[in-house]
Amino acid sequence: MKRTERRTLRHDSVPMRLYHEAKRLGAWDPRALALDQDARDWARFTVTERDVLLRLTALFQAAEESMTRDLLPLLMTVVREDRLEEELFLTTFLSEEAKHTEFFRRILDEVCRQSGDLERYQTPSFRKLFSEKLPAAMRGLLADASPAAQAQALVTYTLVGEGVLGEAGYHVFTAALEHGGLMPGFREGLRLARADEDRHMAYGLHLLSRLVAEGEAVWGVIQGRMDDLLPDTLGVVTEFFQPYDAMPFGLTLDAVIEYAMEKFAGRWASLEEARERARAPRAAPTPEARVRDIRAWLGEQVRPAHVAVSMDGTGKIRTFRMGSTALLVTQEVLEHHPAPEIIAALTAHAVPQRLRDQAPVRLTCLRVHGRIVVQSPDPG
Ligand SMILES: [Fe+2]
Ligand SMILES: [Fe+2]
Repeated sequence: MKRTERRTLRHDSVPMRLYHEAKRLGAWDPRALALDQDARDWARFTVTERDVLLRLTALFQAAEESMTRDLLPLLMTVVREDRLEEELFLTTFLSEEAKHTEFFRRILDEVCRQSGDLERYQTPSFRKLFSEKLPAAMRGLLADASPAAQAQALVTYTLVGEGVLGEAGYHVFTAALEHGGLMPGFREGLRLARADEDRHMAYGLHLLSRLVAEGEAVWGVIQGRMDDLLPDTLGVVTEFFQPYDAMPFGLTLDAVIEYAMEKFAGRWASLEEARERARAPRAAPTPEARVRDIRAWLGEQVRPAHVAVSMDGTGKIRTFRMGSTALLVTQEVLEHHPAPEIIAALTAHAVPQRLRDQAPVRLTCLRVHGRIVVQSPDPG
């Protein structure tokens, strides 16, 4: 096997950026959360409200346990492919999943006071996904780690498990707990776990995008897998609502599905973009292709913000907008410089950090005497 000890780490790569972020933000301890107030608040919910919260917590606990158990084959796959940066990130990923399992178990034990078996909350669709399809896809990597098999595994783990279902679940928790300031310890843990999940999904999406770019056939595999999993995925949400005549917390099935699918649509769009970039002719990249490359790069840099691109009336300036921040790139830059050169210049000018600061800022990237320059309105 080829070894990489001799080369340095690519600290600016997506997995290494996520790895460094995980060390800073992912180092939280579920045991350190104060849950006394939560235990008192628990008694203030109605019977139905408690049932909804217990059901969701039990499902999260079971899902996190599966995600912890089934991640290792992916780690072994990247080791086999000699992707050291991805391996480093995946060590944080795995330990975070372990913490999520511990976190939800602690809520069940100390807040809901349910130390027994909660399997009764697992519906047929939930079992199919988390006890059959997820383990089969992940453990299958041990025997077959082809790009198609990796794509199948990631669609299941990232897009469906952490994505649609994870997002739907967090949405329900937010709707239930955000008003009234109840369960502060639980809410804090949810916030931290959710931030971990954002990194996991960014990595999964990064890996899927690479697989899509490396082989056209992978796209068909992703689509096929998504079609295969969608009925069970929606089934999990529908079956969650089924036992209740009137759902508490103002929750409706349609709103939850709509929320989760909207998040999913954003991820799907970024995969489609990765596919478009891979298909675009490499010989003479057009300004359009460069805009796509820059947008994809920015998306990875400023995650989880969404990057919207627009052109001004004169067609001379392209605006990449991320929340209250914006990067303006002149058409001249896009016509004269290949995307890697533009990205290198933006990196040299610390543009990603400045956009990540999230303070409203407007940066302009233009061409001066044949060179790429980045200006901000406030000098110095
Ligand atoms: Fe997790
Ligand atoms: Fe995760």
